[in-house]
Amino acid sequence: AVERTLVIIKPEAVKEGLVGEILARFERKGLKIARIRDGRVDRALARQHYAHHADKPFFEGLLDAITAGPVVFAIIEGPSAIAHVRNLVGATNPIEATPGSIRGDFARELPFNMVHASDSPETAEEEIRRFFGEGA
Ligand code: CMP
Repeated sequence: AVERTLVIIKPEAVKEGLVGEILARFERKGLKIARIRDGRVDRALARQHYAHHADKPFFEGLLDAITAGPVVFAIIEGPSAIAHVRNLVGATNPIEATPGSIRGDFARELPFNMVHASDSPETAEEEIRRFFGEGA
């Protein structure tokens, strides 16, 4: 089925000049950039987005990382977009991410894994609303 997923190109990836490289990988797979904007994740939004990690020891470091600078938000669309984007992005931990994946090729150490991608249709729609507004 055609799906939508929310991607955040994180501050470390923007800082390292990887925005085009990352978006090109989704496009090469045949997925479409349905919406895109630049912006920032402020601390309040970060707490909301990562609420399910609130009890983890790495939570504050995670908030520091995602709020560290400008990001790019994108809605990526296409057949099975959620699974395809997660495969292109690779495993959460850069040490486990396969070379050839975005994290495997570019990321070094948690929490700096370059990209966030939604993990299910429900979280995708919730995250799209969070970062692109109710009508998106
Ligand atoms: P993301 O896909 O944005 O979702 C949760 C984030 O938490 C993850 O990417 C990492 O940036 C971060 N994260 C997950 N596990 C750890 C960990 N063990 N130590 C530090 N950061 C982590």
